[in-house]
This record gives sequence, structure tokens and C-alpha cells, in this order.
Amino acid sequence: MQPQLRFPYDFIDRVIISEADIRTRVKELGEAITRDYQDSERLLLLGLLRGSVVFLTDLMREIQRPLTMDFMLVSSYNKSESSGFVRIDADHKTNIRGWDVILIDDIVDSGYTIRTVRKLLLDREPQSLKVCALLDKPERHKVDIPIDYLGFSIPDYFVVGYGLDYDEKGRNLPYIASIDLAKGKD
Ligand code: IMP
Ligand code: MG
Repeated sequence: MQPQLRFPYDFIDRVIISEADIRTRVKELGEAITRDYQDSERLLLLGLLRGSVVFLTDLMREIQRPLTMDFMLVSSYNKSESSGFVRIDADHKTNIRGWDVILIDDIVDSGYTIRTVRKLLLDREPQSLKVCALLDKPERHKVDIPIDYLGFSIPDYFVVGYGLDYDEKGRNLPYIASIDLAKGKD
């Protein structure tokens, strides 16, 4: 029998994607990107802080091409529910003109974040722009956006771990877990 997992946060309900499954999938994504960017000499992984950090740093080590990384800090105005208003708190440093950019985020929910950042980046005339997300919640999409590289599609759960947070907690978990706010309260 598996030893009972002890969760370091009381709001965790259950593991929905294991550490091993994440590792396998990230490796596959890295292989796909390596193939697709075989001819690229200017590949930039552009991560959205802070959620994409764990994913990006694992993914970059599975890509067998020269690359650089950069980040943007963006937030949705509304705290719990995504709103259409996305604020750029810190911009990337690299001049992306002529670069092959892969925009990397932890999870696509409404799609507003990716849509907004994508539009902004396209105005800066990269050579190409693709989107890579670890997770997607298709039931929650409010706008249509392309996801060129996707880790996993999940149902409409709120999840934490592997970079994703609930109120800034849970980012350090090596797996993806759903949360239950009633848990640990009785
Ligand atoms: P969107 O603009 O609605 O697509 O929001 C995407 C952002 O909301 C992500 O980058 C996350 O920061 C956050 N988010 C959405 N769903 C979750 C979740 O289940 N757990 C943690 N963060 C989430
Ligand atoms: Mg985010």
C-alpha cells in the first residue's frame, strides 16, 4: 500500500496530477519544442510571474536548443474571479523584435491574461509567438486563445502546486492538488 500522503497545507483536498506525471509531460513538451525550434537561433521563453516559474525552469532544461529566458509580472485586477482587466506590473527586458518567443503561463482560466499579453507582444514584432501553458481549464474560457503547447487539461477545480498558489501559498508543492476551503476547519 502507498503510504498516506501528509499535506503541508490544510486546504489541500487531493492530488490530481502527480510529480511523476508532470515530469513525463514536461519532458514531452521539451522534446516537441526542441523539434519545432530546430532552426531557431533566437529562442526566448517568456514566463508570466509568479506562477510559471517552476514550470519554466523545469521545461527549459528539457529543451536541447540555445535559449534565453525573461519574465513579465502581470495581474488581474479582480482577486478571485478573473476580470478582463490585466495589469502589467513589470515588463520584460529583452527587445523581442525578431525573436522566436514562447509565452509561458501556469494555467489558462478565462484566457484574458494570455489574450492581453499576446496582443501586446505581437505589437513588438517578434519573429514568431507561441503560447505554452502547463494547465488549461477549458470549461472556464471566456475568450478563444491559441495554446500551442499544453501540459494538461483539467476540470473546473481551483488547483495549487508546482508554482500555482492559493493566496500565495502552495507554490512549493511538487504535484498539482485541488483545494477544499472547508477542510481543516472542523
Ligand atoms: P485568466 O486570465 O483567467 O486565464 O487567468 C489566469 C491566471 O489566473 C493564471 O495565470 C493564474 O495565476 C490564475 N489562476 C487561474 N486558475 C487558477 C487555479 O486554479 N489556481 C491558481 N491560480 C489560478
Ligand atoms: Mg498567473
